[in-house]
Amino acid sequence: MIEYETHDYDVIVVGAGGAGIRAAIEARSRGLKTALVCKSLFGKAHTVMAEGGVAAALGNVYPEDNWKVHFRDTMRGGKMLNNWRMAQLHAQEAPDRVRELEEWGALFDRTKDGLMLQRDFGGHRYARLAHVGDRTGLEIIRTLQQKAVANGIEVFMEIKALRLLRDSDGVVSGLVGYWRPTGEFVVFKAKAVVMATGGVGKSWLYTSNSWESTGDGQAMALWAGADLIDMECVQFHPTGMVWPLSVRGILVTEGVRGDGGVLRNAEGRRFMFDYIPPMFAAETADSEEEADKWYSDHTAGRRPPELLPRDEVARSINSEVKAGRGSPHGGVLLDIASRLPAADIRRRLPSMYHQFRELAGVDITAEAMEVGPTCHYIMGGVRVDAESAATTAPGLFAAGEVAGGMHGSNRLGGNSLSDLLVFGHRAGIGAADFASGRSGDVSLDQKEIAEVIDDATAPFGRENGENPYELHRELQESMQSLVGIIRTGSELDEALESLERLEERAGAVSLSGGRPYNPGWNLTTDLPSMLTVSRCTAQGAINRKESRGGHTRDDYPKPDPEMGKVNFVQRIPQGAPRSGGVCGTPAIRSITIGSEPILAMPDELQQLFEEAT
Ligand code: FUM
Repeated sequence: MIEYETHDYDVIVVGAGGAGIRAAIEARSRGLKTALVCKSLFGKAHTVMAEGGVAAALGNVYPEDNWKVHFRDTMRGGKMLNNWRMAQLHAQEAPDRVRELEEWGALFDRTKDGLMLQRDFGGHRYARLAHVGDRTGLEIIRTLQQKAVANGIEVFMEIKALRLLRDSDGVVSGLVGYWRPTGEFVVFKAKAVVMATGGVGKSWLYTSNSWESTGDGQAMALWAGADLIDMECVQFHPTGMVWPLSVRGILVTEGVRGDGGVLRNAEGRRFMFDYIPPMFAAETADSEEEADKWYSDHTAGRRPPELLPRDEVARSINSEVKAGRGSPHGGVLLDIASRLPAADIRRRLPSMYHQFRELAGVDITAEAMEVGPTCHYIMGGVRVDAESAATTAPGLFAAGEVAGGMHGSNRLGGNSLSDLLVFGHRAGIGAADFASGRSGDVSLDQKEIAEVIDDATAPFGRENGENPYELHRELQESMQSLVGIIRTGSELDEALESLERLEERAGAVSLSGGRPYNPGWNLTTDLPSMLTVSRCTAQGAINRKESRGGHTRDDYPKPDPEMGKVNFVQRIPQGAPRSGGVCGTPAIRSITIGSEPILAMPDELQQLFEEAT
């Protein structure tokens, strides 16, 4: 049996993006011994990819903005599939969470009166995104990181978490993982665990996500008994880089369109006017003159169609490219150069200026950018209680992108940063309360730990097996082509078959070299999570026979009112295998799916939608 070290905490938080750090700060501030465990370096998180701003109804630019309008925008953006209570708490609490960041040292851009400046983004009725140029996520991480270190939170970075561990009563009580630099195993005991591991994008070929986003949190939670909901709802951000191929998928912030950028096809036409959906027709400008007037005097009149919610814009770009009107490398053109003076572009969008100049040799103050949809975010995720962020697995909490419900079937830009602040805070409280109420020592099953370690090291003893990089590439190609932005039943069935073959093959990976900093081993141990979440997405997409938000079925092109009343819930039933083999195939095969009614909205909130119409 391989040796391992053990650490003992009240609360451990897995993942050090915005949600994780915010949760740890809250648990620690309640006096609990708290640790952050993360796969990458502390400070390197997908949070930084939310570039354009954090959405909060501060009312600094439009005093008429308030939580009710933000709530309504969020629900409509999510096509009403959202957990209304999460959307309500989010809209109500986001302003306090953002102001608190300012008190902790975050430096936001300013209005002339010295208030936090707010910019426009798709689907938000008013300019609502507090920002720091196009580096908002980075500033938020920097601020939270400083606060966490000052508060005495211990950070274990570069640890790959493999499995959550439960005590004999089935309460989540820790995890087992390994140090990436040394390959040594490590066990954390904890009275409560917060999962804040972010998204799943690395299962797709073109994604804004970096190597960490392999769905570890969703998969570990599911294996530990938690429910997942609406995993079919994946967001393709309309604007990722399409060229050069080596950087395809990297995000081009929605802030470009928020600040006046327009989308054109290869014929030079501003095509978004052709794609205004009836739901947004009353509030969307239907001519260039009207749209440009809105940009120039910033009245809260009808908004340009480039600022429709992301699902609408991504699908429209896809249609233009399919119709043969795409740009040379298979995207469309995003033009800010003809809309703002060069100095303003460099000041307001410094990262975009730098990114295009360095990576594509394009000067965005003089030329258009080539952009196309990129897998950016998953709206589905671990089912949580809105108030406490508790999952359905006792002892386990979840916040940020790993949690489902808040964004329904489509997330509005800027709502992820506010989500992670609001629910990171709530998860920290929830976990601290749970841990404080738990007495006695936490006991772990040594046999289970040994099994996980044996599974994880098994590929080193195999010869002539599968190459994990080959499996990953095939997974990404399948998900991109069969479970992408537009889906059909036959292709989804094909995707499931392909996933089943990959699941088998993942159990036969062989590795050479040692355990310290072995990227092949790291990828091998990421495969079970990627295969699990990919299966959940494909299975959900097969079952949701309608088009809603980020989930578009070519064979069911309209929303179905009956499907709009249900969440698709996935779980591993009691007694079914939860693990087994490094690829976890038996666990993956035991996942079930069923529909359950979404929470009914109370009349006083329902009324907000009636008033608006
Ligand atoms: O476009 C962006 O800046 C991304 C923001 C977000 O995903 O919230």
